[in-house]
Amino acid sequence: MSQSYETILVERRERVAIITINRPEKRNALNIQTRAEGAAVLDELRDDDSVRVVVFTGAGDKAFIAGADIAEFAGRSALAQRAVMLERGLFNAIDTFPKPVIAMVNGYCLGGGCELALACDIRIASDTASFGQPEINLGIIPGGGGTQRLTRLVGEGKAMEMILTGEIISAQEAFRLGLANQVVPADQLETKTMEVANRIAEKSPIALRLAKEAVKLASRSNLDEGLRREVDIFALCFSSEDKDEGVNAFLEKRKPEFRGK
Ligand code: COA
Repeated sequence: MSQSYETILVERRERVAIITINRPEKRNALNIQTRAEGAAVLDELRDDDSVRVVVFTGAGDKAFIAGADIAEFAGRSALAQRAVMLERGLFNAIDTFPKPVIAMVNGYCLGGGCELALACDIRIASDTASFGQPEINLGIIPGGGGTQRLTRLVGEGKAMEMILTGEIISAQEAFRLGLANQVVPADQLETKTMEVANRIAEKSPIALRLAKEAVKLASRSNLDEGLRREVDIFALCFSSEDKDEGVNAFLEKRKPEFRGK
């Protein structure tokens, strides 16, 4: 990476970049610096063709991310808080990132941590992880997409229950709700996550980008508009060399080699 960061680590493993929130002594709580650094790393990785998939995780074995840094809330004005959320939009940067982003949830996934995971495309959790939106206990509400993305993912009833009670649920319960895509034994979390990441990283980056865009339309447009735009996005795939490579490789009974062209 061209920049160095203080609160996050970035590691490349072949075509996968792993971003680790590195404040384990604070359970990887997201402060202003961490959000800014996370967004800056994504900026660097966005145009880097050697990176096909991004994985977010937390340092240590206790927490993925235990939420926003509550210490920073003390004494902060409403307008200052609004600026932090809107101007350092890490979660929206993940949501609109043109490559797949996986949350590797290795422990407490709370508040802003749960919201970061919700902004990711896939969530893989260790069986020791737990999820929750406990903001209500602080006299506030989720402000990083929790009321919107969680509701779209698990439905209004369950989202309402989690947000109104602030209760923390197990990884198994998160899996049952569809909040976690997979739950795996803690000692296999990295292996299983990398299996999924590497499988995705082999695909055409153009098709991945367009697929992500198309799937996201489902919760953001009405059905007719979504179906119409899906056809356009599908047709757009036909302008890529990767589409020719994929089709030819199938017909020639060989493995495709997608070059992102
Ligand atoms: N913001 C700021 N600091 C946090 C934090 C957060 N969201 N979550 C944990 N920390 C800090 C603690 O203050 C403590 O700091 P200290 O050692 O300087 O006192 C340190 O991280 C360890 O936390 P601790 O509570 O001792 O760890 P634990 O393993 O017993 O419990 C949690 C972990 C995550 C259950 C607990 O820390 C917690 O409830 N955190 C707040 C979660 C929350 O409400 N998030 C939503 C924020 S909007």
